[in-house]
Amino acid sequence: MDQFVVRPATARDAAAILALHRRVAETPGGLARQPEEITADYVAHAMAAAADGGLNLVAVASDGALCGEIHVERMKVALFAHVLTELTVAVDPGWQGRGVGSALFRALIAGARQAAPPVGRIELWTGADNLGAQRLYERLGFRIEGRMPGRGRHPDGRLEDDIVMGMLLD
Ligand SMILES: CC(C)(COP(=O)(O)OP(=O)(O)OC[C@H]1O[C@@H](n2cnc3c(N)ncnc32)[C@H](O)[C@@H]1OP(=O)(O)O)[C@@H](O)C(=O)NCCC(=O)NCCS
Repeated sequence: MDQFVVRPATARDAAAILALHRRVAETPGGLARQPEEITADYVAHAMAAAADGGLNLVAVASDGALCGEIHVERMKVALFAHVLTELTVAVDPGWQGRGVGSALFRALIAGARQAAPPVGRIELWTGADNLGAQRLYERLGFRIEGRMPGRGRHPDGRLEDDIVMGMLLD
């Protein structure tokens, strides 16, 4: 059986989060960023934004290795301050399809339900071709809300629509 635990990220996880995202970004079609765009600065900013009213969780395997990470930030404008946005999730290639992503999302949604001030909405974007991720997000309770034509442009010039997905918390 797959053994891992989900816990809040701490500053000590930064280097492992950087390495994880780089490993995941090596496979095209998942994360938006190319490996070279995943820098210490990117991770520091994402962690700081998540710490400021958002959520940041990691999945840790029984050998201590980081096998997954999820972060989301809270919007700053008062009208939208109940919204968690800019969500990114990454699961180590060797762990994909083994329940880590689902566990990270379930913990994130549970955390959002307990957050103060309250969270009323979680939103994310995913590439239109990333059908596996969309299936997973729908299973977790997200709904497809819209499509942004040609939002992504790949290195070879190919355009990919972005799918907007959201979940309202009651
Ligand atoms: C998408 C991702 C976070 C899902 O986490 P996971 O731990 O693999 O997912 P789980 O094991 O909890 O759930 C499996 C489901 O995830 C979906 N899935 C998406 N990408 C997958 C992948 N590469 N491998 C396996 N399942 C994947 C499928 O719907 C699958 O269900 P299915 O068996 O019915 O097809 C993870 O695969 C990943 O990091 N992929 C690469 C980066 C990425 O796509 N990030 C999301 C960008 S929006």
